[in-house]
Amino acid sequence: MGRVAGLAGVSVRTLHHYDEIGLVRPSARTAAGYRAYSPGDVERLREVLAYRRLGFGLREVADLVGDPAGDAVAHLRRLRALLLERRAHADAMVAAIDDELRARATGATVTPEEQLQMLGARLYDAIGGAYTATRRTDPRIAARIWAALEGARTVLNVGAGTGSYEPGDRDVTAVEPSAVMRAQRPAGAARCVAAAAERLPFADGSFDAAMAVSTVHHWRDPIAGLREMRRVARRVVVLTFDACEPGWRDRFWLTRDYLPEFGDLLADFPPLDGMADALGARAEPVLVPWDCADGLFEAYWRRPGAYLDHRVRRAMSVWTRVGPEAERRAVRALGDDLASGRWAERNGELAGLDTADLGLRLLVV
Ligand SMILES: C[S@@+](CC[C@H](N)C(=O)[O-])C[C@H]1O[C@@H](n2cnc3c(N)ncnc32)[C@H](O)[C@@H]1O
Repeated sequence: MGRVAGLAGVSVRTLHHYDEIGLVRPSARTAAGYRAYSPGDVERLREVLAYRRLGFGLREVADLVGDPAGDAVAHLRRLRALLLERRAHADAMVAAIDDELRARATGATVTPEEQLQMLGARLYDAIGGAYTATRRTDPRIAARIWAALEGARTVLNVGAGTGSYEPGDRDVTAVEPSAVMRAQRPAGAARCVAAAAERLPFADGSFDAAMAVSTVHHWRDPIAGLREMRRVARRVVVLTFDACEPGWRDRFWLTRDYLPEFGDLLADFPPLDGMADALGARAEPVLVPWDCADGLFEAYWRRPGAYLDHRVRRAMSVWTRVGPEAERRAVRALGDDLASGRWAERNGELAGLDTADLGLRLLVV
């Protein structure tokens, strides 16, 4: 035990404590009959110590290393994702401090409204580092958006993120408030302005069309942002969702059976009709293909095991917004139901579907 403690950089007392609480138990025996750490125990100890250094409590670590979906590679991937998240958070804090230092140096003041507008960006400054692992263009969803943009030469992409749905053959200008997301835009991507939807820094009618994809629910004031899009562009295309239609909470098994908290997140989100009215737009359903290439929240409706993967969840803001306790509970329950066959029993009919209407809607004007 002393040797393992020395190698791992922890005290023998810590190892005894982990043994007592069942977190890491030396399961092998030496020739003289003493208890010793097997290679598997050492692997588990390494995982425990890594999670501890990331600031997780002992109970949380016990859940994480006890995760049935967790072989060594899955744990390493999860640790890597957590570290990238930390790094993104630190980068975002440094960027925010630099902004404020610059502002102070010029004597500029930031209005409370501007500070609030940055809230949506802050979420993505914290979680955006994990975005590119699974978020990318789905060609079928892109085809719908691009068809609606037909004929527009200049296009403004609001809440552009890494630019997944920007049409490559138009003159695109992107707007993205999160520094972490802006930094991940690929080389050669359209020029990107640091601003928020609620106050677009462009004159009236500057663009043929404005688009916004999977972003409106993050805006501090969705209706104000949509009106801004209408002000600066002659045509508007918005991919969002309908959270008002009766029974919408039961539409998706993930929120119905495992994550009811999702409903609370949208308590203040305007109804689809209200958004359509603000734009004078019509709403068209967008079906989610069973093999959707863009890892959005609904993407894996026919591939439930994907939600057990930490990397997949980290690229969906919902999990961060419901908090770690709800996330752990939902993932554990889903894992249990997949293992026992209960999920398949309840959702057997999905196997025969190639697309699903999970409430995604395209507003077009
Ligand atoms: C789920 S991502 C979508 C990114 C991209 N449109 C896509 O489809 O991949 C949501 C984006 O909205 C941005 N966002 C948050 N608040 C915003 C606001 N008030 N105005 C514009 N964008 C905002 C976030 O920073 C984030 O990049």
